[in-house]
This record gives sequence, C-alpha cells and structure tokens, in this order.
Amino acid sequence: MKNLFLVFVLLMLIASCTTTPNSTLQKVETTLSQAVEQSLLMAESLADQPDRLPQTIDANGELVSCDQYWWVSGFFPGQLWYMYEYSGNEELKIWADNYTQRVADQQFVTDNHDVGFMVYCSFGNAYRITNDEAYLSAIENASKSLITRFDSTTMCIRSWDNASWNSQWQYAVIIDNMMNLEMLEWSAKKFENPYFADVARTHANTTMANHFRKDGSSFHVISYDTITGLPHAKHTAQGYSHESAWARGQAWGLYGYTMMFRESGDSAYLNQAIQIADFIVNHPNLPEDKIPYWDYNAPNIPDAKRDASAGAITCSALLELYQYVDSDRSKQYFNIAEQQLDALCSDVYLAPVGENANFLLKHSVGHMPNGSEIDVPLSYADYYFVEAMMRYRKLKTE
Ligand code: GLY
Repeated sequence: MKNLFLVFVLLMLIASCTTTPNSTLQKVETTLSQAVEQSLLMAESLADQPDRLPQTIDANGELVSCDQYWWVSGFFPGQLWYMYEYSGNEELKIWADNYTQRVADQQFVTDNHDVGFMVYCSFGNAYRITNDEAYLSAIENASKSLITRFDSTTMCIRSWDNASWNSQWQYAVIIDNMMNLEMLEWSAKKFENPYFADVARTHANTTMANHFRKDGSSFHVISYDTITGLPHAKHTAQGYSHESAWARGQAWGLYGYTMMFRESGDSAYLNQAIQIADFIVNHPNLPEDKIPYWDYNAPNIPDAKRDASAGAITCSALLELYQYVDSDRSKQYFNIAEQQLDALCSDVYLAPVGENANFLLKHSVGHMPNGSEIDVPLSYADYYFVEAMMRYRKLKTE
C-alpha cells in the first residue's frame, strides 16, 4: 500500500514537471478526458437506433443523425477509436466497433468520392489500433470502389456525379477529394497494389495543376471537360464566391498535400502544402485565436461566423507539416497549431460534458450558401479536433 502511494506521488511529480499549469498539453489532457465521457454519452444516445450516426444539431439544439450514406458517417466511429486509443476503456472499444459496423455497406459504394472519408476514418482507425484483420477487407473493397471513379481523360477521381445544383459541371472535382487519397496510399502498400497509389498521385498532380491560385489558395470545385480533359469551370459550392478562399477547402488541401508528401516523399507535394500553409497562417483575416472565419473572404468579417471544423483540420495538418519544413516555418506552424488547440480547448468552442447534444465542439459551418449547418457542432470538427489533440500529445510526451 505504502509503495503504491509512493509510485502515485512519483507519477504526479513527473506529470507536474512535464506540464506547467495552463500549458497547452495540460489543456489537451483535460479535454481528452472530457472527450472520453462526452463520446460515451454520444454513443449511448443512438444505442437504440443501430443504423444512425451523429451529424449535427437542429434549431432546438437536438441531435441530428444521418444514415451511413451521408458523407460524414465515418467520423464518429473514428472518434471512438481515438478515444479508445487514448483511454484503453474497453467500453469505448465495443462502441467503436459497433459504430464502425454501421458504415460497412459504404465499402461497395461507387457513386461518390466520400467512401475514403467514410471507410478509412472508421475501418482504417479500427485496423490501425487493433491490428484485427477482420477490418481489412472493407478498406480494400472501399479502395477498389473509389478507383472506379478515376478517368484517364481528366486524370482524376470524380467527386460528384451530375450535381443537380449546377448542371453546368461536366465532371466535378472538389479540393476535399484530396482527403480520400490517404486510403489509396495506405491500401497500395498494405495490399501490394501499386495502382491504388498511381491513381492517388495522378489525382494529386492534376489537382495541383488546376485547383490552385498564385497566392496558394484553392478553388473549391473544378469541373473538367470530359472530351478534352481540361478544366472548363473554376467554381465554388460551399464558399462565399468562385474567387474566394473557402476555409474548410483550404484545410482539406493543406492536410491532403501534407499527407501525400508523407506517403510519397515527393517534394512537389511538400511545396504545395507549404504554399497553402503560408496562405493560411499569414492571412490578414485569420483571427487572433487562429480559428478561421468560414471563408477567408467572407463579406462581413469580423462579424462572420467562425468554422471550428476548418480550425481543427488545419491544426491537425500543421502538427504534421511543421516536422517537414525549415526552422522558421516550423516554429510558426507549430505556434499557430498550439494557439488553435488553446482556443478549441477553451469554453468559447468546447462544450461542457452532457451539453451540445454530446458533440465536443461548437461553432462550425457546414454549408453557408445553402443556409444549412451554420454555427453548429459537426462530427468532422470533433474527429479532427481529437486527432489534433492526439498528435499534439504524442509530440509532447513520446
Ligand atoms: N466534403 C464536404 C465538406 O467539407 O463540407
């Protein structure tokens, strides 16, 4: 008993040496413990609806759930896996598997590009954390489904089929699609199928050639002419205007090219990631707490809505990218990511346990031009927030 007490005192002493009061690490540790409780509450709240997954809240603050076909379905299962990885809590593992199975049919879906988000965040994390081979076939099938959307004339993966909201687009590719390439890169190695990586890199190269402006920002949607393979429209769907920089789109691009550099070692991807990061971190409209407005060119800044999801995705990406760049940039990127964590872990963005319909973060924007999901929690904001905290904790403690 006495020995146990001494070990406890020693552990507390070590902990107090590695974290100073109010340090970012301490906030992250506190927030991760809180996130474990909140994630369990969320999992339990849909226990009796086995085909539903968390999406957002409605005007009354009540949970809005979605079925597995909506693009966000894989994020909550992924969040549960991170929470299990953090806590070792077996109850979380059971829920994580339960919610992962809820998206299983997505591995065979070929009518949109989001299969990467849906299957890699759920089954991908499940395999990464458990090493259980039962999760592998879903990832391989999803990768096969995704590459059916590659076309050798446009040299990229189609995001959306004939978009009803813009009939002008022949072959719409959105910057978000960079995120789906991680599953292909992983599958190429795991299943020894280099074609998956060929498709990923060809898509990344085509996007690099056509999606970006000189200042490093990106368009949201490029539509390709299906005969010539060339872009015929450079538009937005979720941003303020065709020429504006939609905040989450910049975050997807940043994360996507950082990941592509990690997977391929190709310095062209690193240079692209740096250009995007420099656009973001030096932007005059990036607020003091570093959580972006929903669009860097939103018309009513500083009264425009913030997008915590863009902040969380950017933060997670910067916590990787800072490791690959020169020392000045490295310090700058890391400091911005730390400020983002400080903000997201504060009560401005972080909800108390049991509130916010059991989502972690408040204040994200889903689709402003559509008038939907404005200033609300979103499951992907929580997923990338948890990922960013786990990345930060690993950097600081390992
Ligand atoms: N991929 C859709 C979005 O970021 O809202």
